[in-house]
Amino acid sequence: MKRIILSICLFLGVHATVAAADRDDERMRAFVMGLPKAELHLHMEGTMEPELFLAIARRNGIDVPYDSPEAVKDRLRAAHDLPSFIEIYEELISVVEQPEDIRDITLAYYRKAYSQGVRHAEMYFDPQLHLERGMTLEMVFDGLAAGRAAAMQEMDITIGFIMAFLRDRPAADAMAVLEAAEPWHGQLLGVGLDNPEVEDFHLKFEPVFKRAASYGLRLTSHCDVQQEHTIKHHWGVIEVLGVERIDHGLNVIDDPELLKEVKARGIGLTGVPSLFYRDMPGRMEYRAGAVKALLDAGAEMSIHSDDPGMKRGLYIGDLMLRAREAAGMTREDMITLSKNSFRTAWISEDARARYLRMIDDYVAAFDEAHPEMVSVP
Ligand code: ADE
Ligand code: ZN
Repeated sequence: MKRIILSICLFLGVHATVAAADRDDERMRAFVMGLPKAELHLHMEGTMEPELFLAIARRNGIDVPYDSPEAVKDRLRAAHDLPSFIEIYEELISVVEQPEDIRDITLAYYRKAYSQGVRHAEMYFDPQLHLERGMTLEMVFDGLAAGRAAAMQEMDITIGFIMAFLRDRPAADAMAVLEAAEPWHGQLLGVGLDNPEVEDFHLKFEPVFKRAASYGLRLTSHCDVQQEHTIKHHWGVIEVLGVERIDHGLNVIDDPELLKEVKARGIGLTGVPSLFYRDMPGRMEYRAGAVKALLDAGAEMSIHSDDPGMKRGLYIGDLMLRAREAAGMTREDMITLSKNSFRTAWISEDARARYLRMIDDYVAAFDEAHPEMVSVP
């Protein structure tokens, strides 16, 4: 009899512990999702979900070889590194033809991001990809402006734009776009570099960045993860291009001198622990581990979503939670990541102070409502 009672108690005890752990997981999820965040690294084009891609193709009368979102995801399963991903990214974005397409893509993104705590977004866009297919700069900027206006009317969010130049195309094309975009320079926060990482791209784009800086535009650049010549490229974007942020930047952890310089200059690292549709064991662990190591080393590290529509529909809050699990990050790490996103955002000092206070107030209110969570790491 004693043994039976003991077994029942043990059973109930285990169940209570599991239930408490599930409840804590759910609350931690709510906590991370609700943390105010700045999204500093995402590509307008890469936010397009498979469903929206199909809807835009249909309304523009474009035949695509995919008859369902699943078929688009199958195509995305071919992506396994930066060049193979960009090949599909360029293919999918080719259905965009009208300002309304850009408006719809961006508004869908802002809604999703807002639901995961984003209160300020700095959105990359690739004008060259649209000009190559016959859109005009005016159409691109009109689409971006319409998306921003609709989002700001609907949500408490601020939005800025970063004009990207393609690293695998001639620098002269980038210079021509920079000049042609002069009427819209006031709409831009800054410029950046993306697409596949070609060797010594920092030397190639030095004159373009000098010109952009002379127009008062802020500077950032991708240094993607585990690319060839990555350490040389990190030094190049810092010393030759003079960037304030590095998109990805995770390989800074591999070079102590580089890490020292990044910290001394307060350069923001906009990490992305994303997943391709293809299963790639270790990818999340590697990236999340680098984020955690850089955070522990005191770098201005934050987490962002890059191309959420084309990488499993995982947005900023989803990625922070996945990275937390993969690298054993703490609740405090989640708070620091969110604060760093505002510390390195291109916003006024007043706005920065307001957003940082917003995070402190959010944490205090959450802890008051859930005192049992304060001790959960
Ligand atoms: N374009 C879209 N996403 C990109 C990334 N992660 N790196 C370089 N170019 C990109
Ligand atoms: Zn990117």
